[in-house]
Amino acid sequence: MTVALHRATADDLPAMATTDGRAFGIDYSEQDLTDLRLILDPDRFVLARDGGGGEVVGVAGSFPFEITPPGGVPITAEGVTWVSVAATHRRRGILRSMMGELHSGYAGAGTPLAVLAASEGGIYGRFGYGVATASRDVEIDRARAVLRADVPDPAGVRFADTEEVRERVPAIHRRWCAVQPGALSRPPRWWEFALLDRPHQRRGGTSRFHLLHADGYVGYRLDSGVCRVVDFFAVTEEARLALWRVLLRMDLVRTITTEAVADDDPLRWLLTDARAVRTTGVADGVWARVLDTPAVLAARRYAVEVDVVLQVDDPDGYAGGRFRVRGGPDGAECAPTEAAADLCLDVPALGAVAFGGTRAHTLARAGRLSADAPEVLGRFDAACAADREPYAGTHF
Ligand SMILES: CC(C)(COP(=O)(O)OP(=O)(O)OC[C@H]1O[C@@H](n2cnc3c(N)ncnc32)[C@H](O)[C@@H]1OP(=O)(O)O)[C@@H](O)C(=O)NCCC(=O)NCCS
Repeated sequence: MTVALHRATADDLPAMATTDGRAFGIDYSEQDLTDLRLILDPDRFVLARDGGGGEVVGVAGSFPFEITPPGGVPITAEGVTWVSVAATHRRRGILRSMMGELHSGYAGAGTPLAVLAASEGGIYGRFGYGVATASRDVEIDRARAVLRADVPDPAGVRFADTEEVRERVPAIHRRWCAVQPGALSRPPRWWEFALLDRPHQRRGGTSRFHLLHADGYVGYRLDSGVCRVVDFFAVTEEARLALWRVLLRMDLVRTITTEAVADDDPLRWLLTDARAVRTTGVADGVWARVLDTPAVLAARRYAVEVDVVLQVDDPDGYAGGRFRVRGGPDGAECAPTEAAADLCLDVPALGAVAFGGTRAHTLARAGRLSADAPEVLGRFDAACAADREPYAGTHF
């Protein structure tokens, strides 16, 4: 049985949704397809068609994003999504051929990075992806979460309606992305889609309520005594504290749950009892696949001055080679070199270390990164650290 790859067209959306729905257990309605047209660019998708009947048996594509490296200039990234192969056609190389087609297209267009959220942890390492950010489930026992007496009350939070959110919040989100390593940008149509707030987006909770601050935003739903925070971003610590204060004041709410804050959110340190905030689950968040090593390593800033030669191993040939990275807190450059390598790592390890979420020391202990001299490893490790835990803030 032969299978051929094609670029999708707008007419293919129903067949794509059928394939996706069969894999992920989703019934897409006509309304869903209309909504999805807001955010899916068909020409960013490849379809695998069965050579016999011509039906769609595989789908993969991407959303256009930018992602913020530590301290640096946002990097253009394709966010790979909607990946599925029909159960009748699995394990015969269809995913591999679709990933090859997508990656060569991205590299050909000069896109330095691909990112994704993985359904299973065992799939994407072989395609060069490494875990760049973590995702955490946090649960707050509201009655126990008492702010310390010396914590200020900056105020400045009010409720907003959807129209005001549409007008004002995207700009706040862009400012947040600039200060948050690992943050994924949201194009305007992403907001359009999120703010449709259809019943299936609510998962049994209320519609989305909006808390607005000049420098921050919280979107939440109420669900039988639980406040589910679906979005939380603050450009300043003052805005963050003001938003937390309002959430913690919600009488009748027993528990606040969220995946929308990074593990290093300072809230625990503001409370009289840090145990009121519990991390109930930790998983991989965004996986990153470097396609252009100099572009990614020069876009970020380094915590301390570093001058190092990296040997990157990439069996697919996009990011591999030897590169000299020179950088510090004010800027960086990275270019191919013939000089001897100080450090060797594989391309998934590069994706993990590039955003500061995984330490070079940890990768070295796992044998995924090697260094001739311990002091070079120590310097690289210190240089790659970010001032905040990298965190994406957008699930796709
Ligand atoms: C995951 C999925 C897309 C794989 O498609 P496929 O066409 O069967 O994959 P391929 O035959 O191209 O496999 C390519 C490689 O990945 C491996 N692989 C595929 N699925 C895997 C899985 N779920 N776990 C671990 N390895 C997997 C294969 O063994 C093969 O390995 P190798 O070539 O290195 O020996 C398919 O099983 C699927 O649709 N699953 C349900 C939806 C899903 O989880 N999609 C991913 C969303 S992020």
